[in-house]
Amino acid sequence: MVRVKKIVKELDPYVPGRSIGEIASKYNINPDDIIKLGSNENPLGVSKKAVEALKKSLDSIHQYPESNLEDLKGKIASYAGVKTSNIIVGGDGADEILDVLGKALIEPGDEFIVPIPSYMYYEFTLKIHGGVPVYARWDVDENKLDVESVIKSISDRAKIIFLCTPNNPTGGLIDQKDIIQVLESTDALVVVDEAYFEFSEVDNVNLLEEYDNLFILRTFSKVFGLAGMRIGYAISNPEFIELLHRVKPVFSLTKLSYVAASATLDDEEYIKKSIEIGIESREFLYENMSKLDNIHVYPSKANYLLVDVRKTGMSSGEFAEELLKRGIIVRDCKSFKGLDDYWIRVSVGTMEEDKRFIEILESITE
Ligand SMILES: Cc1ncc(COP(=O)(O)O)c(C=O)c1O
Repeated sequence: MVRVKKIVKELDPYVPGRSIGEIASKYNINPDDIIKLGSNENPLGVSKKAVEALKKSLDSIHQYPESNLEDLKGKIASYAGVKTSNIIVGGDGADEILDVLGKALIEPGDEFIVPIPSYMYYEFTLKIHGGVPVYARWDVDENKLDVESVIKSISDRAKIIFLCTPNNPTGGLIDQKDIIQVLESTDALVVVDEAYFEFSEVDNVNLLEEYDNLFILRTFSKVFGLAGMRIGYAISNPEFIELLHRVKPVFSLTKLSYVAASATLDDEEYIKKSIEIGIESREFLYENMSKLDNIHVYPSKANYLLVDVRKTGMSSGEFAEELLKRGIIVRDCKSFKGLDDYWIRVSVGTMEEDKRFIEILESITE
């Protein structure tokens, strides 16, 4: 038998959101009738300008992509209000950048801190590098970070602290004063995950000048509508960014992803509309779900909402299954550490999708 690393054999598989293809064949539903509210994607679809640019570049995919990505980094830097030297771009989305952090920072036995519930991929990626998760607490009832629990978790072996804001899957924001408190308590890298920051209209870029241990993680999968192209980026001090480039896969950003990212950044109208639609849908869903007696929905600053379904008498798995039978995909949150078996997460949709979802929800929860 091939001698695979012990950690690989012990790893729990990552549980992603369900896909339209999978549900269409399992429940025998026409894919066009399925509403996907499970993976926090962009209901507006892709930028038309990105599609045009992609079509034009199809003829050149026999060539390797750019490796230094200076143009794209420059555009991202102006979008974020920083310098090109502050930027690193990942070709398997922000997830690739998490892996790059693992390669650069984690020696076996090093700790990383995650206030739970939060994004599960941090743990999935860093464990492979020998990292040991230490869990702090996200206060779900108040939907806020328990910052003291984070500070108490920091040991000499802590290499990375994750602060997701808005937090996935709860949707709550972290106060900047709490981020500062963490930054000042440690020399570990503080990863402020702003995958959804556009929907909250708050960011933490202003802290970069002062804190060398700040690392802001972002993605093109949400507001930029490019989840399928797998593009992420991060912002940090230039010295650290330069070191990360030494371990990042050189050609991981494909030519097509490069073109799509660049054209979407140029499409300011699309970006503005994406944010507007995301916020409008979130508030519509929140208002209408709040009216239902048997579920409890939490206010959110992202493009999804966390919902407690225990009063329906169903577990999250049973509840999600009822929705699936009716062609609606939501996220069963059972695989999120720090939540029990009664939570689902609902992503924003188009107004038409939201209305149909609410009608179906009413029929299930009555
Ligand atoms: C909080 C958070 N961070 C990072 C990511 C990774 O995004 P990407 O699609 O760029 O890998 C996600 C994706 O859902 C996320 O929810």
